[in-house]
Amino acid sequence: SPDQVRTLVEVAEALAREAGALIRDGRRQLVTVAATKSSDQDVVTAMDLASESLLRSRLAELRPHDAILGEEEAFRPGTSGITWVVDPIDGTVNYLYGSSAYAVSVAAVIGPDPVAAPDPATWTALAGCVHAPEDGRTFTAGRGLGATLDGTALRVGPARPLIDSLVGTGFGYVASRRRVQGRIVAELLPQVRDIRRVGCASLDLCAIAAGTLDLYYERGLQPWDVAAGALVAQEAGALVTGLRGQAAQESMTVAGPPGRVEELRAFLEALDADSDG
Ligand code: IPD
Repeated sequence: SPDQVRTLVEVAEALAREAGALIRDGRRQLVTVAATKSSDQDVVTAMDLASESLLRSRLAELRPHDAILGEEEAFRPGTSGITWVVDPIDGTVNYLYGSSAYAVSVAAVIGPDPVAAPDPATWTALAGCVHAPEDGRTFTAGRGLGATLDGTALRVGPARPLIDSLVGTGFGYVASRRRVQGRIVAELLPQVRDIRRVGCASLDLCAIAAGTLDLYYERGLQPWDVAAGALVAQEAGALVTGLRGQAAQESMTVAGPPGRVEELRAFLEALDADSDG
């Protein structure tokens, strides 16, 4: 019911804000702390773990019957049918470099199998929050209730032709896949207004909702990168899809206004953007 969804949105937002404050304050200490650790990367890893363990212990208190799927720890099964999908720091490279484009992503989803980790291609997201603590932006969405940025309703941007579109994308961490991703960018760049690689998939999807990106695609996204941001985009009126008639999944996520996503999707299909070369 709408009230249940509202409750889930409230939980998602409260958790994302709490974890966001933890990682933001942790980042401010990063330079000093790093001196006593082997590398900055260690500090980031420590903050990832601390943020996820905070999210998990709050969920255990507030939602003891729900399952949890997170980036850093094993899937925790539940009995309610609801799974929380959490990314304790999305955009870890930005976090490491002191850029503000990082976020905590928290979503509540239901899937056909409540005991197994839900498959993004089959789940239904009910509630989501993407909170960027450094610049204080909070995106929320509830299924059927719309999407907001800091309380203001969001609407996806106009369906511009590809050549007038600002397109966001991202790259994986494996060299062979990056080679393919580089080839796709080389083909796409002459056909669009410009390309952005922000480095935080959840914020890219929220940018579709806010109309600050026209289109977005990425191969290799994990459930926690997508769960909340995709709902924000969809509730703002965007289409979030995969290639070749499939739902968005690890092999490819494409998002943007209906009537425009299709052109990008056809372009990516023709280039076999969902293969690794
Ligand atoms: C990464 C970011 C990045 C995307 C990568 C993700 P992480 O998430 O969202 O923008 O291109 O595919 O893995 O590792 O910082 O949580």
